[in-house]
Amino acid sequence: MRLLISNIKQLWQTEPDSTDLQKGEAVWRTRVYGKDMSVLPHIDNAWLISEDGIIHSYGEMSTLPESHADETIDATGKMVLPAWCDSHTHLVFATPRDGEFVDRIKGLSYEDIAKRGGGILNSARMLNAMGEEELYDQSLARLHNVMARGTGAIEIKSGYGLCLEGELKMLRVIRRLKENAGIPVKASFLAAHAFPDEYKQNKEGYLKLITDQMLPRVAGEGLADYMDVFCEDGFFGVTETERLLEAGWKYGLKPKIHANQLHYSGGVQVGVHQNALSVDHLECIGDAEILVLKGSDTIPTILPGAAFFLGMHYQPARKLIDAGLPLCLATDYNPGSCPSGNVPLLLSIACTQLKMTPEEAINAVTINGAAAIELEHVMGTIKTGKKASLIITKQIPSLAYIPYDYGNNNIERLIL
Ligand code: NIG
Ligand code: FE
Repeated sequence: MRLLISNIKQLWQTEPDSTDLQKGEAVWRTRVYGKDMSVLPHIDNAWLISEDGIIHSYGEMSTLPESHADETIDATGKMVLPAWCDSHTHLVFATPRDGEFVDRIKGLSYEDIAKRGGGILNSARMLNAMGEEELYDQSLARLHNVMARGTGAIEIKSGYGLCLEGELKMLRVIRRLKENAGIPVKASFLAAHAFPDEYKQNKEGYLKLITDQMLPRVAGEGLADYMDVFCEDGFFGVTETERLLEAGWKYGLKPKIHANQLHYSGGVQVGVHQNALSVDHLECIGDAEILVLKGSDTIPTILPGAAFFLGMHYQPARKLIDAGLPLCLATDYNPGSCPSGNVPLLLSIACTQLKMTPEEAINAVTINGAAAIELEHVMGTIKTGKKASLIITKQIPSLAYIPYDYGNNNIERLIL
């Protein structure tokens, strides 16, 4: 099936075309770092052809070849860009936590709520009480909702089971989403999200449950791509995190961890030491953490939607970019700290609150987002041979209009 998109006002995040690449005259990018994040290559008045879901060719309208297409989309006045890659979500969950939201408005903190048995443990109780079918149906509806806002690849974590059966149930739901959603889905195993009540006095028992019973089953059924730990004071400490990540590596699970959300917890250091693909959150990050990241391949991923919703201070995006790092943005979609998987809204927060330019923010959630879930060879930029996972916007005046027009959906269509 040959699809032609013609008269594109601007085609964004383009790589050099295939002929230049074949001649070896150009290189294509797998991540963008630091000041290069302010550049978003594009072609004005462009066309793009995809062949069976793969980008075949593209260029300026004056170079459009005369050939047959099975379907033509006229994109006059519209932008085309690669679909968002949302590299950190907890989209599979049972029930919203709007009661806790009100408690926080009235003065309780996220940590207060966790200490009294709410938060993640609240979600775990509700998830374990829900059947797999209902959990799947709800999660699929959420996934369709974020796809309508341009998300074309996503990572989803377990971590609301906190027992063998509950974690397996979540991961099986994620596997069904992988099979049926029509977009790439990556799964992270996050049993180390919180200590369940019955293990509060027996932390060693829970660590052993994860390493000796859950991991072999999860890996045996091929249910996870990554290993995640909530490395944080009051949750899993540095030594526990190190041990869990080492155990994950034995089963081939690369770490992608929660680090430095609430405190300077040492999470960045342990993540880098364990060769994590990414360290995520980073509300609490200083020079020492930045120095460690600079000497590594670990991708710093910030989740400003969570800082927004919890009313916390934002991640120092400018400092991370100025340090030359390949900054990634993700939503953190979850029922506690960020009940939204809306990437355009995330872009608005990144631009207005973190002072990222629209180009930087879009790089962070396309090419760098793809790298943070190891999809950089198939997604994240417009390149011959990559998946034609494309956003077509409504008629908008500029790319900056997407974050500018906050709260509104300017995505007309996601092509898969
Ligand atoms: O990334 N902080 C840890 N995990 C999630 C929130 C989980 C929850 O509150 O349900 C996060 O913010
Ligand atoms: Fe998270």
